[in-house]
Order: sequence, then structure tokens, then C-alpha cells
Amino acid sequence: MVESSELEVQIQSTGQRILVSRSESLCDALANSGIEIPTSCQSGLCGTCKTRYISGQVEHNDCILSDAEHAEYLTPCVSHIQSGVLVLDL
Ligand code: FES
Repeated sequence: MVESSELEVQIQSTGQRILVSRSESLCDALANSGIEIPTSCQSGLCGTCKTRYISGQVEHNDCILSDAEHAEYLTPCVSHIQSGVLVLDL
């Protein structure tokens, strides 16, 4: 059971769960667990890291995706989890 203050990413294809702290990027947390997301700008500007998510509350911090895209995709280099569990389509 996840405490309300804890943030977690779940990988849809494997069910793997990864704890994420607010001070690290989602890309870094995933990379530390062996899941490499391609990145380029690391600033929310290029869209290289664009990743589809299935559920979760996302804090979108990029400057590249449209509102419509935000409903389905996030940029894990700069965007984060608002609370709870974020399920990624990976
Ligand atoms: S690496 Fe450029 S938007 Fe994430």
C-alpha cells in the first residue's frame, strides 16, 4: 500500500513499480531502475522523451505538448507525479 506522500511509477508491461522522490526527475528514477527513456534537451522543449501514460495525476512542466497531448502523454525529463501512482505505457 502506498502512503499518500509517496510517489510511484508503474510499468504497465511488467507491473514493475519504482519509488520516485520529488527531488529526482522521472527519467532519472527510471534510469536508476534500468529503464532508459531517450532524452535530448532535458528541459521540456524537444519532445524526445515523450511517453504515453495510462493513468495517474501528472504535473506537466513541458513547453512542447498541447493540452490534448497532455491527456495522454508526458515528458518525464521535467514533468512529475502530483500524487500516488503513475502508470506508464512502457
Ligand atoms: S528531453 Fe526534451 S522534452 Fe524531455
